[in-house]
Amino acid sequence: MKKKPWSGRFGQETSSLVERFTESVSIDRRLAFHDIEGSIAHAEMLLAAGLLSEQEACAILEGLKEIGRDIESGTFVFDPSLEDVHMNIEVELTKRIGEAGKKLHTARSRNDQVAVDFRLFVRDRLAEVRASLKTFMAAVVQKAEDHVDTIIPGMTHLQHAQPVSLAHHLLAYFEMLVRDFERAGDAVRRLNVSPLGSAALAGTPHPIDRFMTAAALKFDEPGRNSIDGVSDRDFALEAAFCAALIMMHLSRLAEEIVIWSSQPFSWIVLPDAFCTGSSIMPQKKNPDAAELVRGKTGGVYGNLVALLTMMKALPLAYNRDMQEDKAPVMESLDTVLMCLEVMTGLVQGLQVNREALERSLKAGFITATDVADYLVEKGVPFREAHRITGEIVSSLVSEGGTFEDMSSEDFRKFSDAFGPDIVSVIRPESSVDRRRSYGGTARKNVKTMLEDAHARVESLDV
Ligand code: ARG
Repeated sequence: MKKKPWSGRFGQETSSLVERFTESVSIDRRLAFHDIEGSIAHAEMLLAAGLLSEQEACAILEGLKEIGRDIESGTFVFDPSLEDVHMNIEVELTKRIGEAGKKLHTARSRNDQVAVDFRLFVRDRLAEVRASLKTFMAAVVQKAEDHVDTIIPGMTHLQHAQPVSLAHHLLAYFEMLVRDFERAGDAVRRLNVSPLGSAALAGTPHPIDRFMTAAALKFDEPGRNSIDGVSDRDFALEAAFCAALIMMHLSRLAEEIVIWSSQPFSWIVLPDAFCTGSSIMPQKKNPDAAELVRGKTGGVYGNLVALLTMMKALPLAYNRDMQEDKAPVMESLDTVLMCLEVMTGLVQGLQVNREALERSLKAGFITATDVADYLVEKGVPFREAHRITGEIVSSLVSEGGTFEDMSSEDFRKFSDAFGPDIVSVIRPESSVDRRRSYGGTARKNVKTMLEDAHARVESLDV
């Protein structure tokens, strides 16, 4: 067991139970490279401020880089009795370079150190999330491109409502993803303030240059309040929220994929490579990947609630409770990244079953609104048109027929306003193409929106 850097005022060794209970290096070792990056910026600033000699700074920088290489190659051994990643690296540095290593922590506390490391980590991970979102968005737009002419029953209450182009349906997800992408960018903008130099909570008497370290770490500026610097975890919460909202969107799509690929629907066929079988039922091909995206959403929401709750009653400034912030954020971001990848594969690989869709479009009187709108165009008040169409539907339900079974004369039995053109109005294609209002599902509109979507994906800066 190595001697703790803070052991000066202690008369007893830490109990091994407490060591196991308080250690965080099993989790925060993932911050190692960011910790080294922060320490390099800090050491360079200490040199510029005259707090380190040239020789000391050189030794520190070399030592830190060497430790970084060892961590990368997997030869560095993290010791849980040294609590966290910060003390593991600092103790090792001193072991390697001697006295100079002991000066690195001048004008710094683990409280501002961990705040820097975690911000850098979250900033990098959110950049990865944005890149994955962009890839997924491109896949969604591509699938939409292939299916402008594929018409599906649009649903409300999971009941047939009005026909829509499948491209239009997919582009609804595209809009959610654009917002997710922008939201992650907004989160990074607010995150990008440097806490380094806040020290324990009150700042430091040493002549440090916080603007220099902020710039070196590519933060926009140093934070204006040292207490906020060490006690703020909004950036972690915002990242957890971004993850939760992305998962909610993915989960809705996953749910549709599960339903649409089920036998009663059979609208889509999933790629075998993205499905799994049953150990007992030989015929089974289950949409497990989509189900797990849906299932993992709960855990990602849970992480957000865990963080909010962990923070809610903490007095300023740093409290050890805050060590519990890393696992949920790391897990949420890992999950979201994997789910984005899985959903990209699912969307790319799914095939549409046109016959099943055509069959489905015949059920549920999906063009009933078009029949009512037709009557309105012929001068019938909408409420009256609604009632007449309802009566037609009701009589077809009792006879077991569909609009397609009716001739224009059959329609005229319900209202004189019907002309011969009614039989084309009830076709799903014409229903779709008549909805030319801005943002509506007419194929002409959808094609314009697709061009727009392509350009939007291209312009996303990750
Ligand atoms: N491992 C700690 C954390 O993650 C680092 C900060 C510890 N500071 C302290 N005063 N004990 O929060």
